[in-house]
Amino acid sequence: MFHEIPKPVRDRMKALEALDAKDRQDGTTQLKRLRQIPPESGKFIALMAAGVPKGAMLEIGTSAGYSALWLSLACKLRGDSLVTFELLHEKADLAAQTFKKAKIEEQVELVRGDARGHVGEYEKIAFCFLDAEKEMYAEFYDLVVPNLVSGGLLIADNAINHQEKLQELLDAAEADERVDVMVVPVGNGLLVCRKL
Ligand SMILES: C[S@@+](CC[C@H](N)C(=O)[O-])C[C@H]1O[C@@H](n2cnc3c(N)ncnc32)[C@H](O)[C@@H]1O
Repeated sequence: MFHEIPKPVRDRMKALEALDAKDRQDGTTQLKRLRQIPPESGKFIALMAAGVPKGAMLEIGTSAGYSALWLSLACKLRGDSLVTFELLHEKADLAAQTFKKAKIEEQVELVRGDARGHVGEYEKIAFCFLDAEKEMYAEFYDLVVPNLVSGGLLIADNAINHQEKLQELLDAAEADERVDVMVVPVGNGLLVCRKL
């Protein structure tokens, strides 16, 4: 999966990494910033996504499509496609450019709008990467976990760098007997929930 990343995917990853790094230094507003995961988180979620059972492969919070590029590697290996949701038009336009430039338009479905109106439609979810606003995480957790297939994964970003905001959810997930959970200290901290 990582040994032969197609050149158009690699090139777009590098371009987005440079754009995201610039964003973080030049005072770009929170709304406009790409707020991407770091490369090590991308690798980790791709590794996890590669091994889940059959079912829908979802991402909530596309931004410019950087994490989706990593997940597309796992989807390609599995012969699956990724469905990724983005609320903001400007970000969704960037993501559409990403998927075109990376030549993965056929492997990724970009859904524009609030994912809260769509995620409940997927009855058999094999994998979901959650990377939206932290205030919505509990709502998404409640939409995704009931529909995860056995052995399916929900992975949520920012479990360490936004631990305070997410503490209630982290505690609830820990106590939730439908899943086994662990916070993995990769990148900003990833909450990994595996459905029993
Ligand atoms: C942290 S960024 C995602 C970064 C992306 N996962 C990456 O690593 O390349 C969060 C994104 O989630 C989007 N978002 C927030 N709430 C959303 C919702 N309810 N439905 C869909 N997208 C949402 C935001 O517009 C923003 O682009």
